[in-house]
Amino acid sequence: MIDTDTSLPRDYIDKKGRKIIIRPYEEKDFPRLKEMYDVFEPKGLEAGLPPIENHVRKQWLHSVTKSFYSILALYRGKVIGHAGLDLSAPNQCPEYLIFIKQGYRDAGIGTAMSEIMRQLAETTGCPKVWLTVRSANTRAIRVFEKVSFRFRGVIDIQREMELIIKKKPSQNKKTRSSSKLTL
Ligand SMILES: CC(C)(COP(=O)(O)OP(=O)(O)OC[C@H]1O[C@@H](n2cnc3c(N)ncnc32)[C@H](O)[C@@H]1OP(=O)(O)O)[C@@H](O)C(=O)NCCC(=O)NCCS
Repeated sequence: MIDTDTSLPRDYIDKKGRKIIIRPYEEKDFPRLKEMYDVFEPKGLEAGLPPIENHVRKQWLHSVTKSFYSILALYRGKVIGHAGLDLSAPNQCPEYLIFIKQGYRDAGIGTAMSEIMRQLAETTGCPKVWLTVRSANTRAIRVFEKVSFRFRGVIDIQREMELIIKKKPSQNKKTRSSSKLTL
């Protein structure tokens, strides 16, 4: 069953019994987030991400951490998961991305982070969130469908999925600029 607790930071005991801390990204986390992506495998598989070349990866990460609202999953002080919502363009629906380090996949962490991000997206006032994913990435698709993403557009090697945000009655008057992302 999907956990509906979005308060952060929070502890999450994964399917292997490890205590994972999920919390918002802070600027000081950059080196350890970069460390996760430096050893991340496979690189470049999902729309070229995370970039294979070191300098491109560093540039991409600078841009993502600047324009995305990010949350991290940490195990024993090391970053093992990163999820982000692109809030850089105020009038556009945000893109979602998520990467879980090898060795920590299939333990429920991606689902837990995506569920938190889904609920968080509800506070932004945006009507939908979208992402692209390879059709062959059935594990990612399973996770996205579990948190209510659905396919849109043409059937191809690369697919788009979107999540329609259900507005809560109390949020009907909320705009993105007045939204609070600090949970
Ligand atoms: C995709 C990803 C984010 C998912 O996160 P995760 O922590 O591994 O996922 P979870 O453990 O929460 O859930 C995986 C689900 O997929 C299922 N699954 C595992 N392998 C599968 C497969 N080959 N096909 C379909 N479902 C699969 C699991 O059984 C589980 O479902 P369940 O909870 O109903 O049993 C993570 O694996 C990852 O980062 N992969 C590499 C990068 C990537 O693909 N990012 C997404 C880019 S769009």
